[in-house]
Amino acid sequence: METGPRVHARDPVDVVDRAHEAEVVEAALRGGAHVLLEGPPGTGKSTLLRRVASSRHVPFVLVEGNAELTPARLVGHFDPALVLTRGYVPEIFADGPLLEAMRGGGLLYVEELNRIPEETLNVLLAAMSEHEIAVPRLGRIAAADGFGVVAAMNPVDAVGTARVSGALYDRTCRISMGYQTADAEARIVDLRVPGLDDAWRARVVALVRATREHPDVEVGSSVRGAIDLGRVADQLASIRGTGTDDWHVGLAAAKASLTGRIRVQDASDRTPEEVVTQLWIDVFGAEPTDDSPDEDAPEGRPGER
Ligand SMILES: Nc1ncnc2c1ncn2[C@@H]1O[C@H](COP(=O)(O)OP(=O)(O)OP(=O)(O)O)[C@@H](O)[C@H]1O
Ligand SMILES: [Mg+2]
Repeated sequence: METGPRVHARDPVDVVDRAHEAEVVEAALRGGAHVLLEGPPGTGKSTLLRRVASSRHVPFVLVEGNAELTPARLVGHFDPALVLTRGYVPEIFADGPLLEAMRGGGLLYVEELNRIPEETLNVLLAAMSEHEIAVPRLGRIAAADGFGVVAAMNPVDAVGTARVSGALYDRTCRISMGYQTADAEARIVDLRVPGLDDAWRARVVALVRATREHPDVEVGSSVRGAIDLGRVADQLASIRGTGTDDWHVGLAAAKASLTGRIRVQDASDRTPEEVVTQLWIDVFGAEPTDDSPDEDAPEGRPGER
């Protein structure tokens, strides 16, 4: 049985801003507290987490939170084939990420904590408060000094029951990650998609940020939408042999990058395509006509739908 994906960070991670959050995470961990990073999608929680991991000189284990993360996958298990010949001896127990972090006095990084099944979360909560866990047929395992949990989650999806989420908040220091500033978002896009025109990038970021304020939109796009918009426009421009700043290229890239990312209010009668097109026009102006001075616009291009 797989014990779940594990990644050990090696390279320093580029993080734009977030110095304050990184400092508080570091302080909490040094103080022996567990940490919960909470914020909307795309606000850099995983990025910050990887950065903290790569800058600390303690062992760490990363685990991706999902519905398949059973207690046995988190804690570990006896190898079933060896149990038949050798019985339940400690030597044939394969440590899961939690035991690995506990025994090594390392950090357990849990991504998407809110996707973990409740029974698994309960095991984790017990290890966090007791610094030891009872494993059936293996016995009690105590955490070595230095053991800590850093978890990231998205407040949009609720965690387990009210009782479980109360227990989680009571065992962690919470660091809230809000949306980045416009300037930081532009620098993040520049980091991921280098070489875009500064003014064009700033307008793309403004447009993506506007999806979060739009009255018809319930959930707007994160900076991931701006990153993809930049990437798609860049490639589409090269396929079409135009500039990235071509109006039609940009709109097509905006629709591809944003219509699936925004969620329009139930009560609204507008489609995501209409919302994105309107925002595009608000930020980049109306569709250039044949006699507008846009020399890059290829002739006879059909209008965007
Ligand atoms: N402060 C930042 N510095 C550098 N890159 C960032 C920053 N914030 C976000 N990004 C970039 O934006 C994207 C999303 O960031 P990340 O995966 O860290 O978000 P998240 O908060 O973990 O999102 P989710 O809740 O969906 O897991 C990544 O491509 C990441 O590189
Ligand atoms: Mg994440």
